[in-house]
Amino acid sequence: MSQLNGRSVISVDDLSVGDIEAIFKTADDVRAHPGAYFGKAAGKIAATLFYEPSTRTRLSFEAAMQRMGGGVISTWDVSASSVAKGESLADTIRVIGSYSDVVVLRHPWEGAAKLAAEYAPVPVINAGDGKREHPTQTLCDLYTLREYHHTLKGLKVALCGDLLNGRTIHSLAFALARSGANVIFVPGDGKEIPDYVLRRLERDYHTHVQREQLGILSALFSDAPMGEEPATVDAIYVTPSEPHQLAMSSIEGTTVEFHLGSGEALSIYVTRRQKERGGYASGPERYPTLTTRSLETGRFRDISILHPLPRVDELSPEMDKDPRSLYFRQAALGVPIRMALLWHILGLEKGPPAQREPYLPKVEGMRYSLPGFDCSNETCITNQERLFAHPQFQVVKDLAYKLRCLYCDLETAATHVGNSQSHIYYSIELLDRILPPILPEHIRFFQSSDAAESAGYRRVADNWDRYHPDTGKDRRSWLESASGRSQ
Ligand code: NCD
Repeated sequence: MSQLNGRSVISVDDLSVGDIEAIFKTADDVRAHPGAYFGKAAGKIAATLFYEPSTRTRLSFEAAMQRMGGGVISTWDVSASSVAKGESLADTIRVIGSYSDVVVLRHPWEGAAKLAAEYAPVPVINAGDGKREHPTQTLCDLYTLREYHHTLKGLKVALCGDLLNGRTIHSLAFALARSGANVIFVPGDGKEIPDYVLRRLERDYHTHVQREQLGILSALFSDAPMGEEPATVDAIYVTPSEPHQLAMSSIEGTTVEFHLGSGEALSIYVTRRQKERGGYASGPERYPTLTTRSLETGRFRDISILHPLPRVDELSPEMDKDPRSLYFRQAALGVPIRMALLWHILGLEKGPPAQREPYLPKVEGMRYSLPGFDCSNETCITNQERLFAHPQFQVVKDLAYKLRCLYCDLETAATHVGNSQSHIYYSIELLDRILPPILPEHIRFFQSSDAAESAGYRRVADNWDRYHPDTGKDRRSWLESASGRSQ
């Protein structure tokens, strides 16, 4: 049962398993009875607001709306809008939201869609925010995979290419992990999956992450320049956790090779270099590329090949006629999927949209949002629209304490911590040793000792250790003791 009426979709996390099933069921019905949907969105308007180039996403949303008899207003050349005069996204979205019933937004800054959802009077659908997420592409990907392989559980999916900047990769990895699929990351040189994504896969999706050798997937580097040994590319394998694995530390080296057991299904998801996000040198580099030669071996007989498109040179056009190639089908399914999504968000089945509620991402554990601690990602919306976006974080801990930005997902290390009652600050490593623990409502995080001093905090005495000996190896961490309390 979908709970999507009147809601924004900013991350795949905003879609429950029930929501996704409801969207897929409606998409099945749209394909079986397309005529039944015509006219159902009459009188409704979708605004498509695209600050970055798009072909499939924008046009499939517009086609979806029009196939249901709704209207579309669109801005895709932002140099022709007030943005060119310096208007903020927060202002733009409030105005466009007052002209429409739903806004579909693509933007180059991470977290832009979350900010838009906070200010828009109507639901916002994230059509790609910088390198962060692209949840509706994930719906198309999952729907295509499910149709071909029948189930996602146990499916192996190789996510290939620019894993650092590819927003389709990030959303899909989270959704696959939640569906019980296994994911193997096959990056181009220097385009590895970011650590904050891996940590989220472990922490929030309870997966086990380990480093593997490419094994049969080294065939994707068969055209590597300079005859380099392709198997030296590091792959990372993500699998649903067994209870005994939860206690194991992740990622560190293993010599296990990726392989495909008999009867095991594999999908290869190819992506292009995201050159517009920078970081590409002109020299030779290894990049996973799919050609008929890569698939010569019989081990790839039962696979599927996906690509969110556009492709450049990482997927050979020779593959287009191959029955394993699903990417044009994947793009075509974008229309019924987006019809289904709009159908649920606009409440077309149930009548008037539900009362709008403020957009709040699901976060377990402790939130932190005090002034003075900024996200370290320059292209995060909180650093670009300082007047409107107020940084919010989730406190996370692996080896050290970090604050995960709730706009862009990146984690920023806290170097110091202070107690707002005593106005004393400590190096962050001491946080778990301070007794009694600093209460969550009294904690202040800092990015440097200078920041703590300029906020009026005094460094803890040098002989602090004498009074707080490090005896508490089994003691709960500060985060564990604080998480039970609300802030
Ligand atoms: C993707 C995007 O914009 O992130 N395209 C799409 O929406 N189908 C992938 C890409 O641009 O490489």
